[in-house]
Amino acid sequence: MAAPPPDPQFVLRGTSAAVHALHFSCGVQEPDVPVLFSGSENGLINVWNLKTHRVDKALDGHGRKSVCWVETMDGKDRLLSQGRDQKICLWDLAEGRASVTDSVFTENVGFCRCSLLKVAQGRWLMAMAAKALDEVQVLELPSKTSVCTLKPEAGAKLGMPMCLKLWQINCGSQPLLLAGYEDGSVVLWNLSMGKVLSQLFCHQEPVMSLDFDSEKAKGISGSSERALSIWSLNEQQNLQVHTTHRLVNAGISDITIRPDKKILATAGWDHRIRVFGWKKMKPLAVLDYHTATVHCVSFSDHKNPSERLLAAGSKDHRISIWSIYTQT
Ligand SMILES: *[C@@H]1O[C@H](CO)[C@@H](O)[C@H](O)[C@H]1NC(C)=O
Repeated sequence: MAAPPPDPQFVLRGTSAAVHALHFSCGVQEPDVPVLFSGSENGLINVWNLKTHRVDKALDGHGRKSVCWVETMDGKDRLLSQGRDQKICLWDLAEGRASVTDSVFTENVGFCRCSLLKVAQGRWLMAMAAKALDEVQVLELPSKTSVCTLKPEAGAKLGMPMCLKLWQINCGSQPLLLAGYEDGSVVLWNLSMGKVLSQLFCHQEPVMSLDFDSEKAKGISGSSERALSIWSLNEQQNLQVHTTHRLVNAGISDITIRPDKKILATAGWDHRIRVFGWKKMKPLAVLDYHTATVHCVSFSDHKNPSERLLAAGSKDHRISIWSIYTQT
């Protein structure tokens, strides 16, 4: 019999708006404090102190437009945030500062979150939906040099990119991009050629979220449907459907595989967070706390596995924090 669903370890309140983005920064040394960044519909980014469970800082840089993505570049002092004001801001948070030191104007009106990949010391790639509705642009950071623009072929009818994942097999190997599109397909792009390597139709509806495990060459995606699609990438760089996992209720807004690749979590339109074993998609827990759609899920980067946390942000203005232990 399955264990009874646990309660959240604690709940963060006070965003006074729906929560759309979460990112932990916990790989810190004492006396530094682990933090959680959250992005809300009211345009604010909160920096939560995970010792006191209070907001240390509220950052206002998106003209009160919803913040849909937050990510750090080497620790918690350099933060990237993306807003519906079509801007991506780079923040300097070192030594108590809270200033925007650089920004990128995306000119994109969609809902697609950016993806960031560290490719070398002091060098990152960032993929973002571009001005032309079906295009993705990849920039190098911090220089903001354009690496490539990924344009579907004429007549491909992919629609808008909805979710992005930059990845590489190992440090130093070629970065690749997986993108989920409005037409329900997942596409693998070669960045140096700007060409499609493989396309897989795995959903009838727009792909809302995806994540990819480069070690197992296996990924997962969700949509407004009542199913998750699990797919794999073979050595010929072809995407193939692996399995389809039926869900009780329809609608997935976010999926994330834990950094150790053992479990994954989904954010549901049914107000629930679901945790699965990644290897066999074994259902491990249904976390029932929120009273509205869960928009985002994120795992912490604690060095010590027993401290690892899962955070979920919801339309109900709350962020629930869970401690998940698993032998799987
Ligand atoms: C991507 O394209 C480049 C340039 O043609 C090629 O050298 C490379 O092998 C391709 N990468 C993959 C993963 O197919």
